[in-house]
Amino acid sequence: MVARNIDGKKWSATVQEEIRQKIAEITKSHRPPGLGVILVGDDPASRIYVTRKEEACQKVGIHSVEITLPASTTTEEVLAHVKQLADDEAIDGILVQDPLPAGVDTRQVLLAIPPEKDVDGFHPDNVGRLSLGYPRFVACTPAGVMELLHRENVTIRGKRAVIVGRSNIVGKPMGMLLLAEDATVIQCHSRTECLPVVCSSADILVVATGRPEMVRGSWIKPGAVVIDVGISRISQGEGKKDKLVGDVCYAEAAERASLITPVPGGVGPMTIAMLLKNSLHSALWRLGL
Ligand code: GUN
Repeated sequence: MVARNIDGKKWSATVQEEIRQKIAEITKSHRPPGLGVILVGDDPASRIYVTRKEEACQKVGIHSVEITLPASTTTEEVLAHVKQLADDEAIDGILVQDPLPAGVDTRQVLLAIPPEKDVDGFHPDNVGRLSLGYPRFVACTPAGVMELLHRENVTIRGKRAVIVGRSNIVGKPMGMLLLAEDATVIQCHSRTECLPVVCSSADILVVATGRPEMVRGSWIKPGAVVIDVGISRISQGEGKKDKLVGDVCYAEAAERASLITPVPGGVGPMTIAMLLKNSLHSALWRLGL
């Protein structure tokens, strides 16, 4: 079997167009949704992510406010900026770009974001709600994976979903989302014994380990749906361009899967689309619409 690609770029564009239309409708009589973004320090990857998020906001009509702070900023200073955004009526969502510099207490900062404005879905109140079955905001990457599965009409109920990875941002919420839709969920991690055998029992395999091309073709059940959340830059040697790869060896897995997300162009583009969706929903709730 040769897999068909799940086109994350296409689905992300579709979702963003739906969001743009909805915002155009509400802004006839109300203010636009507002997103406050805090970037601390000068991590180049974070700078790129934040710029991409803001460009996407602009395209769909979300008003975004960026607060850029030096790496020397203290926890108290970051907290003061979070409070300022929390008190701002025109701001519906607050995003503090991760990772924060070593001198800033990430947990304290995340706890200071009001759960009603936590469009990243990282606050314990939102994580708890998800686990109890009445979600408010869901973390954007796992929400994006669910959106892809839905839009591709993948059957989830009763199917065996194996997740490789247990991070708070991806692996854990991914398991809760699939369980809520009646999948039989197996959560794997770096200490799981016989990982290839467990993976090869998956109807839906979600890999989020951050280990480039770790999952091989022989680990894939023929006909499985393979979702690759990873993205790593691999050097091809001197003078050659770096290559972007996922956590799954795409060439091998595509020989056995029925559907697979490519890297890049699979899960990645959906993450931003879900941030915009969460920001829109926050605005709708806060405006009473
Ligand atoms: N850093 C990497 N991914 C994310 C994300 O989804 N949200 C935030 N706030 N920081 C990140």
